[in-house]
Amino acid sequence: MSSPRLHVNVDHIATLRQARREAFPDPVEWAKACEAAGAHGITCHLRTDRRHMQDADIHRLRAAVTTLLNLESSLDDGMLRIAEQSNSDAYCLVPENRLEITTEGGLDAIREAPRLGDAIGRLAAAGGVVSVFVDPDPRQLDKVMELGAPFVELHTGSYANASGPVREAELARLANATAHARSIGLRVNAGHGLDFENIAPIAAIEGVEELNVGFSMVARAVFDGVEKTVKDMLRCIEEASK
Ligand code: PXP
Repeated sequence: MSSPRLHVNVDHIATLRQARREAFPDPVEWAKACEAAGAHGITCHLRTDRRHMQDADIHRLRAAVTTLLNLESSLDDGMLRIAEQSNSDAYCLVPENRLEITTEGGLDAIREAPRLGDAIGRLAAAGGVVSVFVDPDPRQLDKVMELGAPFVELHTGSYANASGPVREAELARLANATAHARSIGLRVNAGHGLDFENIAPIAAIEGVEELNVGFSMVARAVFDGVEKTVKDMLRCIEEASK
């Protein structure tokens, strides 16, 4: 089986920059260094509250990224307008709550069906591959399929936060959801909360095409540097999927 691709989420470099409202560290330079070390794609999220990425970062990333640029967006009309004009290669539709520390759960595709269907159509018309970030629940997957997105990104946060038998159960949920998605014709990415210790079982799930990893890589790179961090993560993924 081929290994899932590694897409590095660069938001947390912008979080560090915004902590001091400085021009550095620059998420675009970080993205370029990740690509040079072998990352297969770059992901970023322009939040409505602009807590990390800023509008100009999206344009600069678009100009600099030579692999694939995946832009996460909420269903907010203004954010979708920016996404439509960003010329990204891929879009991931995510929920956004104002007070959350990070994206806390998957988008509820059933509750949001009318707005979500509209957003999927708009971003597909803009020319990008669309995915929807959902919890590993077959009802969510069926709804995303019905609404016409080709990909889901399965939320791995509950798995990442759990331990022992609960983690095993969450892993089984992700494996079953991947199998279900593939059986109805959906393609599968995964991400959130993945790190050097917990990524292997996810990378080993047959049919997962792409893993989105952000925070743990920035945290590791503080000690190890970007090149070693990316190469080590790529090795974890490759060894797990052998
Ligand atoms: N996938 C999605 C849809 C996300 O919103 C995030 C966090 O911004 C990630 C993956 C990456 O999560 P983490 O930073 O915990 O690796």
